Amino acid sequence: MKRLRLELKKDIDRSYDVLVGRGILASLHSEIQRLGRFSSFGLITDEVVKPLVAEPLQNQLRSNSIDTTLIALPPGESAKTIETVLDLCQQLLAQGFDRRSLLLAVGGGVVGDIAGFAAAIYMRGIPYIQVPTTLLAQVDSSLGGKTGVDLPSGKNLLGAFHQPRLVLSDLDVLASLSSEAKRDGFAEVIKAALIEDPDLFSILEKEGADLLNTSNPLLEMIIAKACDVKCRVVNRDEHESGLRRVLNFGHTLGHALEAAANYNITHGQAVAAGMAVAIRFSQRWAGLTKEEAARALDLIQKLGLPTDIPENIDPQALLGPLEKDKKIQAGICHFVLLAEIGRAVIHPVPVNEMRHSLTQIKELRDFNN
Ligand SMILES: NC(=O)c1ccc[n+]([C@@H]2O[C@H](COP(=O)([O-])OP(=O)(O)OC[C@H]3O[C@@H](n4cnc5c(N)ncnc54)[C@H](O)[C@@H]3O)[C@@H](O)[C@H]2O)c1
Ligand SMILES: [Zn+2]
Repeated sequence: MKRLRLELKKDIDRSYDVLVGRGILASLHSEIQRLGRFSSFGLITDEVVKPLVAEPLQNQLRSNSIDTTLIALPPGESAKTIETVLDLCQQLLAQGFDRRSLLLAVGGGVVGDIAGFAAAIYMRGIPYIQVPTTLLAQVDSSLGGKTGVDLPSGKNLLGAFHQPRLVLSDLDVLASLSSEAKRDGFAEVIKAALIEDPDLFSILEKEGADLLNTSNPLLEMIIAKACDVKCRVVNRDEHESGLRRVLNFGHTLGHALEAAANYNITHGQAVAAGMAVAIRFSQRWAGLTKEEAARALDLIQKLGLPTDIPENIDPQALLGPLEKDKKIQAGICHFVLLAEIGRAVIHPVPVNEMRHSLTQIKELRDFNN
């Protein structure tokens, strides 16, 4: 097991451990006991994760004298609404939860965001821990304290920063993930490597598609390294005033692509395509060499992720969502680009130039067809 620490430099008391390993759910009760005494425990999960992970975990905690109230939410992004949070808070109140109660968010990023947000606002804030069960949640959403829900007009528009007291990622739970969910998670692992960690990039490059086998012995080290990248970036900039923006590598265009595709594309696929375009922009504007760009694109492909905007979407259509999102201001879009593999820079790209590059992507595609 690897024990990392997410240090919050502004407030060392709120720093917390991030545990990554196999079979470590078995020690959750002792980790909870290390955190202190709590009046009651809520195990928040979704209907899919409930039989797979949450119920066995509830039994195991019970046999170690920790009785939890299990609340299962409907699965998927459509549950990430304020109504779900209100309903959850009402259930907590009905069960007598108070300020010394502890919530356990056991599930993917959706459960983590909802339970974390409920913990942020219930009685002005109660402690919670993250037990992420998807690869995406283990390397990304469980870390850093961003919580929240969607509004009908956009994703993650309501939210709060509320740091968990612990993150415990057990790799054994990943075995039941679909191949698509695994690949989606790897989009974020590749992002971590590209922005901060050239060693991680080399390991990913060497292993390639073998990594999609969740029993790969290198996976623990890889997930820990990806978590470490996120911990370091959050440490530098907890509230995303500047440096944390590097975590948006591939996401500026990725989010625009999700919107342009009416969310009929997975987040990982959109981010992969967004990274692929950002890699090409990096060659042009940030000095990324042709060789490094080719290696980065090759890795995305090896993990079964797209390196181009889907055929049915006109690349130019991405500019609309960027404008709507206020990502383009005064004719400039600030992009996270790569100066080299493992070193991200923020670079202003004039929108005219972007339009030109996106037209070239379309022309090249039309030419190849
Ligand atoms: N807070 C942050 O910093 C942050 C960062 C990135 C993403 N997010 C959010 O995370 C969400 C996406 O997370 P996600 O991809 O984990 O989605 P998710 O939570 O919807 O999980 C995907 C699906 O996998 C199922 N599942 C979960 N664990 C499983 C397991 N072990 N085996 C089988 N099935 C399992 C879930 O029930 C769900 O149906 C989005 O809402 C996104 O906005 C938040
Ligand atoms: Zn993402």
